[in-house]
Amino acid sequence: VTETITVDQAWGCIRRARETGWQAGRSFAHETSGISIDPGGNWQSTHPAEPDAASLLDLLAPLVAVDGPLVIGQLGQSLDGRIATRTGHSHYINGLESRTHLHRLRALVDGVLIGAGTARDDDPQLTVRHASGPNPVRVLVDPNGRVSDQARMFTDGQGPVIHLVGEQAGVQTDMQADKSRRASQQVRRRVVETSGGFMQPSDILSCLAGEGIERVLVEGGGKTVSRFLQAGCLDRLHLMIAPLIIGSGPTGVSLDPIEHLDQALRPSARVFSCGPDWLFDLIPG
Ligand SMILES: NC(=O)c1ccc[n+]([C@@H]2O[C@H](COP(=O)([O-])OP(=O)(O)OC[C@H]3O[C@@H](n4cnc5c(N)ncnc54)[C@H](OP(=O)(O)O)[C@@H]3O)[C@@H](O)[C@H]2O)c1
Repeated sequence: VTETITVDQAWGCIRRARETGWQAGRSFAHETSGISIDPGGNWQSTHPAEPDAASLLDLLAPLVAVDGPLVIGQLGQSLDGRIATRTGHSHYINGLESRTHLHRLRALVDGVLIGAGTARDDDPQLTVRHASGPNPVRVLVDPNGRVSDQARMFTDGQGPVIHLVGEQAGVQTDMQADKSRRASQQVRRRVVETSGGFMQPSDILSCLAGEGIERVLVEGGGKTVSRFLQAGCLDRLHLMIAPLIIGSGPTGVSLDPIEHLDQALRPSARVFSCGPDWLFDLIPG
């Protein structure tokens, strides 16, 4: 045990706590750091924690100190609520600290899910690189089977992919999936029922639960996160707000129109500073 608890030690504790079973209602004690976490996420330590380490524990302990399913949405956006430019350029709206936070979230979930638009525009890897931790299963929501079989997640061999398609994706997607499987041997294609081209987020989550994926990070883009939020399927939403005004381009959260402000969502909120950005940890309720 050292004099002050560092961010690395706090992160090590959070990762270990994630692997702990909480059913017994007992606290988790991390002997190397002297931190203990109670069920639900309150924590104590035998030594003072550095401010960034304390902030990390405040933010993430509630996410790991619970058993069972958890769905977290995230979006990095500008002050005017944009998640990319009009041409789809989004690297990087947020600073390194926010990107590190995103990678930590990836390391704490079973699966990281994106929509077809993000796969086409960004071709992301969705692996954990800015933090230590395991890569989650990559999940692609692609009802029409439009994403190229050359997409990085299909070909990079960096871990399993679940490719969720609608019934309408048809033969073409079967061929794509076969090619993908040949490329990485790790692509599982699953059909989720659609209505008007739309998959119910609850059906997506049931399908993933059937694959052993209960903790899910819905990483983007705006349409995908918004659909989960609209359906009441997000336990938490992490909005990373950068001090940047883009002024045009796609917005992050976009929900069905309302007439009165009393119909607006008023999530409970905690706010953390994250380098130059502000991180809103929201419970939509
Ligand atoms: N700043 C950030 O945090 C962040 C994160 C991720 C992405 N981005 C940016 O966001 C942009 C893309 O976002 P986007 O909102 O346009 O697209 P998106 O959310 O990535 O993908 C939307 C598409 O995914 C499919 N999809 C998602 N949910 C579905 C559901 N429940 N049922 C059926 N289909 C579903 C549909 O595909 P079809 O079109 O085939 O019907 C839909 O049009 C990119 O420019 C990317 O750079 C930013």
